[in-house]
Amino acid sequence: MTKSVTLRRPDDWHLHLRDGAMLQAVASFSGHFGRAIIMPNLVPPVVTGAQAAAYRDRIRAALAPEMTLRPLMTLYLTETTDPADVLAAHAQGIISAVKLYPAGATTNSASGVRDFDKVRGVLEAMAQAGIPLCFHGEVTDPAVDIFDREAAFIDRVLDPIRRATPGLRVVMEHITTSDGVDYVAGNDDIGATITTHHLVINRNHILAGGIRPHYYCLPVAKRETHRLALRRAATSGDARFFLGTDSAPHPDRAKESACGCAGCFTAPNTMSILAQVFEEEGALDRLEGFTSLHGAAFYRMEPNEDRIRLVRREIPAAYPTHIPAGDETVTVFDPGFPLYWHLEDPA
Ligand code: DOR
Ligand code: ZN
Repeated sequence: MTKSVTLRRPDDWHLHLRDGAMLQAVASFSGHFGRAIIMPNLVPPVVTGAQAAAYRDRIRAALAPEMTLRPLMTLYLTETTDPADVLAAHAQGIISAVKLYPAGATTNSASGVRDFDKVRGVLEAMAQAGIPLCFHGEVTDPAVDIFDREAAFIDRVLDPIRRATPGLRVVMEHITTSDGVDYVAGNDDIGATITTHHLVINRNHILAGGIRPHYYCLPVAKRETHRLALRRAATSGDARFFLGTDSAPHPDRAKESACGCAGCFTAPNTMSILAQVFEEEGALDRLEGFTSLHGAAFYRMEPNEDRIRLVRREIPAAYPTHIPAGDETVTVFDPGFPLYWHLEDPA
């Protein structure tokens, strides 16, 4: 008997679509999602409501009319962000959240926050208005080992900010450790996104037997015990955990370099990979919560009305290994196993 699962249309609560030729190349690969929280780390970053609205319009224009994706915009928090601008952009329905990058933590984060006291006023205004704050949760202190930066961030930054700002609704983005899982599971007013790739790879995939730049992302994948903790969290049914792919395309040239940049491009095959992961965990009945219900509830939105279907077939689904992007190519994330789950849309 053919195995299949029907889901409310999924949402992606953390997505990089970039701009220009890259946006044109990648947007359609997320077209089957319902909504996506769009990351603002462009060059220059999206820091005003007007910039967010213009970027939203460029994204809409890059999507074919039959595509379901609706972009939900974010502002990039800087030390000079004016609380009034954030409140106005939110009140006008332009933005759904604000993104905090510690300065220097990742791709295009140079304009991020160094001194967290300087954003206190914005965070208080956001707490009052109920605007979610999405965190890139890694400290940038060079003395902290890169594999410990998420855990250090929880103790040094996240927990103090949450204590100082009651009511602030935060999303710990792309958690990669059991420390992240435990912190989120024990608290309220907090959600966490989990990426597809962190459910699949551990740090050996990046480094054992040769260096594999297409598995390098930030936060970097950790040891196997952490991957297993992420799998348990994603498949637990706990509504604090939801899908944010962090699909982050870079030209192959920039990844396959002496200093390769961070990011895995998972948009095309994410749903097939997730179905396989949830099947392996005996949790196919919880896939819909993770991809289509929990995130919407956190963002205080209704789940999507329409549905998609995933069907398990004997022949693996065919996804491109690379896609063209202007004069460049972008490598699609290779999970390392055949993808028997095929996406049928509409259901
Ligand atoms: O791997 C990543 N890529 N992590 C991030 O935090 C940023 C992203 C990007 O924009 O390339
Ligand atoms: Zn990201």
